[in-house]
Amino acid sequence: MDPVDVLSQPVKLPFSGKVVPNRFLKSAMTERLCTWDPDNRAECGKPTEAYVNLYKKWGEGQTGMIVLGNVPVHREFLEAAGNAIIDKTNSWDAVEAFKPVVAAAKAHGMLVIAQLTHAGRQTAAHISEHPVSASATKTPDGAMGMTFKTARAMTEEEIWDAIDRWAFASEVLYKAGADGVQLHGAHGYLLSQFLSPRTNLRTDQWGGSFENRSRIVFETLKAIRKRVPDEAFILSIKINSHDFIDGGFDEQDCTAMVERLEAARVDLIELSGGTYETSAFEHKKESTIRREGFFVEFADRMRPHLKQSVLCVTGGFRNVGPMADAITRNTCQIIGLGRPLCAEPDLPKKILERQVTGAKENVLPFQLQIVAAVLQIHAIAENASVYDVSTKEGADEIGDILQGKKASPRPESAKYPLVGSGRS
Ligand SMILES: Cc1cc2nc3c(=O)[nH]c(=O)nc-3n(C[C@H](O)[C@H](O)[C@H](O)COP(=O)(O)O)c2cc1C
Repeated sequence: MDPVDVLSQPVKLPFSGKVVPNRFLKSAMTERLCTWDPDNRAECGKPTEAYVNLYKKWGEGQTGMIVLGNVPVHREFLEAAGNAIIDKTNSWDAVEAFKPVVAAAKAHGMLVIAQLTHAGRQTAAHISEHPVSASATKTPDGAMGMTFKTARAMTEEEIWDAIDRWAFASEVLYKAGADGVQLHGAHGYLLSQFLSPRTNLRTDQWGGSFENRSRIVFETLKAIRKRVPDEAFILSIKINSHDFIDGGFDEQDCTAMVERLEAARVDLIELSGGTYETSAFEHKKESTIRREGFFVEFADRMRPHLKQSVLCVTGGFRNVGPMADAITRNTCQIIGLGRPLCAEPDLPKKILERQVTGAKENVLPFQLQIVAAVLQIHAIAENASVYDVSTKEGADEIGDILQGKKASPRPESAKYPLVGSGRS
């Protein structure tokens, strides 16, 4: 079949019955566009006009499934200043606050889910001096350009509270009109900290065996379903194929995980990799370069373990040939995109209308690509022209902004320093 025809095919999700209108997924990307006032935490995390406008643009761009992200469920354990927050102790009405962004993203028939997260030990020191995690461990200083305090091991009560927070946030999103939620189980965040034997040193029912390390994920899924019994509400998770660090979550864990996620009626599993300590948003092996997707070889080994849940692979895809190839080979059914949708929010539309055969090149060095993507997100949200990182001039402009030589069109709501590189 012609590659564009392959990418145009809808996919029905097995448990919710919802239909993704094409093969593209906008992967969760921290927007940092919501209210932020370190002296008034209760007022942080409210969706702003800029945030809504960003999702209006992504909705117009025809990415079949749009993942809002990342949305912390606890206002103290943020990925970054400016995150949208759904905290059960919010004094403001989160349902009303999230309705406009969900409506904007869905206006052109796309499905919208939100990535719910808790940064755990990856909460930077300037956000919280008292991070918590599965065990008392510390994210090394300098990871992602930030410093971190040693985390305190969560009590049993705190674990159940975190589970309840994920369920609460899911109900908010359901009432706000979202099609579902995605748990952030990847990239070294709290769930990933529980899953990894390197960061989970517990000896109680939440640590040790794979069953115990993954318990928090499955209890969270159960709690969400209890709060939102409507089966049409999509349950999804983003997980690592591998942490790429000794003693971390590995392929054997990932295989056990996908099988259990399917049994738990999770519609969509998004495969990624790495943590703050080991970036995985670039090729780890020569052999995947031609196929573009960083994790396609892992996905090839995971797919036979799945009979119903839909698999999405995110990372590295840029051109229609390799994207369609991953689908026709049955590596995955959905293609996740990150950085390309910051440079070109309407890339899927342009591909489906056969105006282009792939994303523009990114000539920036890898270390600058993530922070550049945040600046592009802010430019999209402000209706400004988006930095063209396919040219030397565009790349130089980003360099000038980062060195403070040039101002960037960042929305008022986002006028706090861009600490770290912004990846999550
Ligand atoms: C600016 C930016 C922010 C990101 N924030 C998140 C996030 O909040 N949650 C997440 O799971 N991944 C996040 N990621 C990772 C992307 O979702 C994606 O997995 C990664 O960029 C690889 O895909 P790509 O090669 O198409 O960019 C972020 C990436 C970028 C560029």
